Amino acid sequence: MKATFLFVVSLITFSSCSLALFSCTREKVTPIDQQCNTTISFANEVMPILQANCISCHDQGNASGGYDLSNYTAVAANANAVVGSMKANSYQLMPLGGPALPDSTIQKIKCWIEQGKLDN
Ligand code: HEC
Repeated sequence: MKATFLFVVSLITFSSCSLALFSCTREKVTPIDQQCNTTISFANEVMPILQANCISCHDQGNASGGYDLSNYTAVAANANAVVGSMKANSYQLMPLGGPALPDSTIQKIKCWIEQGKLDN
């Protein structure tokens, strides 16, 4: 009886360990670059997101918080702040007053950064 009990316990332990390992491995195989398998265009994808959601408060004439996001050079220089603010990660949530942009939109900007902030 005791042996059967131990066997069952070790079986459960073993299977939950391998399940845990499995889920760890699965989490590891979805890194950001795998979701970035198409090249993001600054002009056609990144800039329109900023134009629709940010420029009204962040252009040369009205650089709220000191951020002018109306041109490539400025956006590339402030890319981490741009994406950080969209996730309220170390920055105030933007667009100001929310709601936050959809994850898929934020992901595009992350991919653009990951791909080397191309001026394309
Ligand atoms: C309705 C106006 C408005 C919109 C829209 C807006 N912002 Fe802002 N943003 C502000 C203001 C005002 C500040 C300065 C806030 C402060 O200093 O407390 C600011 C600050 C920031 C900061 C600095 C935040 C910090 O914590 O230091 C970043 C980065 C930023 N905005 C990026 C963006 C991005 C990216 C978007 C578009 C997704 C956006 N903002 C949309 C008004 C806006």
